[in-house]
Amino acid sequence: MINESDPIKLFSKWYEEAKSTSIDKPNAMSLSTADSESRVSSRLVLLSRHNAEEGFVFHTNYLSRKCQDIESNSKVALLFWWDELGYQIRIEGQIQKTDSKASDEYFSNRPRGSQLGAWASEQSQEIESRQVLEERMKQFTAKYDGADVPRPPHWGGYAVLPDTMEFWLNCDDRLHDRVRYDLVQGQWQSVLLAP
Ligand SMILES: Cc1cc2nc3c(=O)[nH]c(=O)nc-3n(C[C@H](O)[C@H](O)[C@H](O)COP(=O)(O)O)c2cc1C
Repeated sequence: MINESDPIKLFSKWYEEAKSTSIDKPNAMSLSTADSESRVSSRLVLLSRHNAEEGFVFHTNYLSRKCQDIESNSKVALLFWWDELGYQIRIEGQIQKTDSKASDEYFSNRPRGSQLGAWASEQSQEIESRQVLEERMKQFTAKYDGADVPRPPHWGGYAVLPDTMEFWLNCDDRLHDRVRYDLVQGQWQSVLLAP
């Protein structure tokens, strides 16, 4: 049964468990955003790091659809599901860009192909053909030949600072354990929910 007063610590515990199983990409999480007309959309992104100060950090193209949504609505939701463990974690909160230094550092440690891809792909824009994308990749590969690839200004981190987190633990007879944590005046309060 869930017995922890700090949801960030509980997340860390479950995440470590997920990483120690054969789960492929335990860091994959669904990110849901809503645009200015409340149209909701979801996609997977990869958790880069998490901690109590920043929250949950991922990296992306700042000109993509998700980021256009975020510009008009900074409330987002994240979702993890680790089937082998029967764990679901829901996270809701406010999102903001991480500082550019942290993005530089993260970008500099990415594989070179991913760095070049970040320049080549105008994420979420329509393209005429796959050839256009491959051509752009060739251009940037040639441009940075023999040099470090700098971080594109339109690429970087986002941090989701949670104000609500819900943990769901699969149990027999559908009597799952379900605990929601709400941040109230800087303190986490927990409540048990019917599954
Ligand atoms: C397993 C997985 C991990 C992904 N990780 C990322 C990521 O960390 N950052 C990212 O921008 N896109 C990632 N993507 C691609 C996104 O799901 C999405 O296609 C892309 O970000 C464009 O979304 P948008 O048009 O809604 O902005 C990932 C896709 C998959 C399937």
